[in-house]
Amino acid sequence: MINISIKKSIKADVSVVLLKESDKLSSDIEAKFALQGFSKKDGEGIFMQDSSTYYLALKSFDIDSIREAGAILIRRLKKFNIKSFSINGFNDSDKNYALSLGILLGEYEFDTYKSKKIKSTLKNVYILESAKDFKDEINKAMALSSSVNFTREIVNTPPEDCKPSDLASIAKKLSKDSSLQCEIYDKKILKAQKAEAMLAVSRASVNEPFLIKLTFKPKKPKARVVVVGKGLTYDTGGLSLKPADYMTTMKADKSGGCAVLGIMKAISILKPDVEVVGIIGAVENAIGSDAYRPDDILKSREGISIEVKNTDAEGRLVLIDCLSFAQDLKPDYIIDLATLTGACVVALGEYTSGIMGYNEKLKGEFEEIALNSGELMSKLPFNRHLEKLLESKNADISNISSSRYGGAITAGLFLGWFIREEYKQKWLHLDIAGPAFVEKEWDINPYGGSGAGVRSVVDFILSRAK
Ligand code: BES
Ligand code: ZN
Ligand code: ZN
Repeated sequence: MINISIKKSIKADVSVVLLKESDKLSSDIEAKFALQGFSKKDGEGIFMQDSSTYYLALKSFDIDSIREAGAILIRRLKKFNIKSFSINGFNDSDKNYALSLGILLGEYEFDTYKSKKIKSTLKNVYILESAKDFKDEINKAMALSSSVNFTREIVNTPPEDCKPSDLASIAKKLSKDSSLQCEIYDKKILKAQKAEAMLAVSRASVNEPFLIKLTFKPKKPKARVVVVGKGLTYDTGGLSLKPADYMTTMKADKSGGCAVLGIMKAISILKPDVEVVGIIGAVENAIGSDAYRPDDILKSREGISIEVKNTDAEGRLVLIDCLSFAQDLKPDYIIDLATLTGACVVALGEYTSGIMGYNEKLKGEFEEIALNSGELMSKLPFNRHLEKLLESKNADISNISSSRYGGAITAGLFLGWFIREEYKQKWLHLDIAGPAFVEKEWDINPYGGSGAGVRSVVDFILSRAK
């Protein structure tokens, strides 16, 4: 764990200097750069032993580049045998926040299961004081990064060690360590509550399902936000079994649920004047003689019947029952997060999440907040033609579309069917299937779970307290 602190002046083991391609330093330094072939290309770095200075070149000094620079620095300097580095703070609060966040998020590495852990001696980063006071920004970066890294660690935990009951235990522990209340609905309660869609998905697994609820209740809330997460601790596809190549990494199908845990952790630290309820549908989609089947017809908690045409479209079945509980809470906003469709990754690429819903203004507002938080998110438009593709001959709706195109949107529209009229304008669906799991490190994200959605949703909640 890296400790970031603000200092007036300090002699650290290494001083970091950020520079642009066009920057010209003293002729002495420039000569040394030339000698070593350092051409100030974006992301290129060089260590100068005589002055103990690490120079990192950036194409631009915008907020996104500075956040990424923080991650690049920590990843590179962690490999040096040093205890600390210092870097000048900016005269801009957002940039100081971005730099700290980049350092704290870039540092994370999943090594829990490695016998030999690579230990780094680097423990302290000093940001040198600028004219602006940025204590609050550092504190927010610490709250957010600890929550995102907490999410990443759970996503990365293999399915044998992270079953639905483990997600419930993590939530209980989180509530014990904070001011959050925690309620757990087991199979018996879910049956009594007629959450049949969620129960059908879980049926073939020996690992029983749980609906997890965490609540943050401030004294004078300005709004009530409910966040719902898809917590598929493993998705084999069920009887519509996934091919082997597509099944690996499906431990990350719990990313939406893990993001909700991270969001609730951040909220318990930041304590905004907003009531926040987190709901997680923790389920395993397995195969077995008791499995739900294609052709089965399920009754959801909202009383709508669903014809199952593909058991791999299970996330939406879990989410609709969770969204049903969410609506009972009379929220001002409902946001769900889910690794819902491969189609969303095809549509937007692996770096961007899809934002869906019926309220254009709300989607736009959320997109802007997400981009400012440093997460890539983009709106995907609903339309009535795509909605027709969900028609079923035998039930009210089919769990998959009859066309292979537009799968992210038809999945969103499926969820929309279960949102009551009075909540249609208050609901947002985030498909995080692309960025939730990182195959090759990018930006501030290491290999593995990224914690996608946490920063955006926390910033959205904070914006409701204003
Ligand atoms: N968990 C998957 C979606 C997914 C795919 C997440 C790739 C992350 C990366 C989801 O449950 C699923 O299998 N969806 C199907 C839906 C299809 C059967 C309509 C898909 O995307 O293929
Ligand atoms: Zn699936
Ligand atoms: Zn899934």
